[in-house]
Amino acid sequence: MVANLKFDDRVLVVTGAGAGLGRAYALLFAERGASVVVNDLGGSRDGAGKSSNAADVVVNEIKSKGGKAVADYNSVVDGDKIIQTALENFGRVDVVVNNAGILRDKSFARISDTDWNLIFDVHVKGSFKTTQAAWPHFKKQNFGRIIMTSSAAGLYGNFGQANYSAAKMALVGLSNTLAIEGAKNNIHCNVIVPTAASRLTEDILPPDFFAELKPELIAPVVVWLCHESCDENGSIIDSAVGWASKCQIVRSKGSIIRHSITDRVTPEAVQNNWRVITDMDKASNPGSIQEATAGLMEHLETMKRNADPNTPKNAVSMTT
Ligand code: NAI
Repeated sequence: MVANLKFDDRVLVVTGAGAGLGRAYALLFAERGASVVVNDLGGSRDGAGKSSNAADVVVNEIKSKGGKAVADYNSVVDGDKIIQTALENFGRVDVVVNNAGILRDKSFARISDTDWNLIFDVHVKGSFKTTQAAWPHFKKQNFGRIIMTSSAAGLYGNFGQANYSAAKMALVGLSNTLAIEGAKNNIHCNVIVPTAASRLTEDILPPDFFAELKPELIAPVVVWLCHESCDENGSIIDSAVGWASKCQIVRSKGSIIRHSITDRVTPEAVQNNWRVITDMDKASNPGSIQEATAGLMEHLETMKRNADPNTPKNAVSMTT
């Protein structure tokens, strides 16, 4: 197959690129011609300490293969400095892959303020600061690609990861809105939900499964999402072991829980309609806040019609 997805004049920032997934992304982007800012604070898995070694090793690896890369040792909470590194060394910025991450796993009752704040600082504030610093450049050049990194622990929950799950879902919300705000300037934002062998997962996953979860199998998905020819925007893409899929928030068809606009909603009416409210058989993705709200208008109209004494009692069903 011809390798025609090139990034020759593009400048990429990959945060947390000194190891794991970020390293795999940086190597593949560089192989495809990009100039890469390899950002990594070089601390421990729980966010303590720092070192320039992690970023340096990956930069040397890229350069030894003839690629273009520069190291950046800032924490993502100082994301503006990372973007500054891109501008100073390569003169522009085209893509931000927000990948840096740490874990502070504890059962909910044992999570301290520090555990909570550090997780939100690195994952949420870090993605905010780095992306916001790149944003005006994206707008000016009418091009930008952003990746947010979520997690199955966010989408589905996971015991012992309340802080991490909350932060990872916050990034879905951030991406949803950036996709809307950026669309008119050809700025796309998507979420990757990876499952990969790294120091974050080495003691969580069974060893034989762990061995198959190579970050290199996810990197091509991220590279495609960041290419100028990819139209995908505002999506959540799940990927691992050489498989990828799209996730969506879906809503059941639901049920009206008062007959007419003049009726009160009672807990008993909710109870009586619970089976229909929660029936996911005809669930769908509203696609936009406008579509989601338009549905509410329709329900209101139905209730108004039902309040009209001229409407026959059985003309409109209680459930829709
Ligand atoms: P990793 O620990 O191998 O790599 C994360 C890198 O981020 C490390 O090199 C670390 O030094 C760097 N980093 C941490 N805090 C930083 C900061 N404040 N500023 C700059 N760099 C910092 O972990 P892995 O697995 O490659 O994780 C990458 C991302 O993917 C993370 O956001 C993680 O939460 C997410 N993720 C990983 C999954 C997996 O199965 N490995 C599953 C779901 C999400």
